[in-house]
Amino acid sequence: MEVIVKPTAEAASAHAHDLLVAHMQRSPATVLGLPTGATPLPVYERLVASFRAGLITFRTTTTFNLDEYLGLGTQHAASYASYMKRVLFDHVDCPPSQRHIPDGLAKDPQQEALAYEAAILAAGGIDFMLLGLGHNGHIGFNEPGSDFASRTRLVDLTPSTLAANKSYFAQDQSPPKQAISMGIGTILEAQTIVILATGASKAEAVVRSLAGPATPAVPGSALHLARNVIFVLDRASAGS
Ligand code: GLP
Repeated sequence: MEVIVKPTAEAASAHAHDLLVAHMQRSPATVLGLPTGATPLPVYERLVASFRAGLITFRTTTTFNLDEYLGLGTQHAASYASYMKRVLFDHVDCPPSQRHIPDGLAKDPQQEALAYEAAILAAGGIDFMLLGLGHNGHIGFNEPGSDFASRTRLVDLTPSTLAANKSYFAQDQSPPKQAISMGIGTILEAQTIVILATGASKAEAVVRSLAGPATPAVPGSALHLARNVIFVLDRASAGS
């Protein structure tokens, strides 16, 4: 496990971007795991700029997003499918057939989760996973208590996660209380994991994930079991 602390959130985001770009340049036919949330936004901005500058292409890249709210589709502004279009896919050359996000509108979410796992397997597994970290230590939508062996499945969101993500929804809308999320076991199988956390509000989740012990009470602490994980932090999230 490697820990990199940069002076600012911008510098930490730039570093995560640089790691991803170096990986894509080395392995153009790569399989990426991608997060949503506020933290990776500067990374996506930089990726779009790097694409426009001709430094990378997504033509041969396959992507798997971590999660999606149950009941939300591409048409919903707060869905992760629409987030990904807005911040990345509308601006780069990744063919739609190579992008994967759990279908929040699936009639049978359990079946959708199984199909998602099968698609990851068929793609040969995830080479490079970019992760964010929830305030309660969640990764993807794996809330505290999630089994470290868990696979993609339907999950219940905690009140603290619902509160943290409420700002993405209009005032008269309440966020879905369930989501389809890659499991911790699925995440841990990635060849390389880069977890980006910025801001003082993440400091407690960072220290509990980094210090260990690896416990389901802190999903981020499962990363101690990953083969190659790099924490990219700013000073505020590192508590320094
Ligand atoms: C959401 C996502 C996670 C993300 C987390 C942190 O719940 N499902 O994948 O890492 O929020 O989000 P933020 O970066 O906005 O703090």
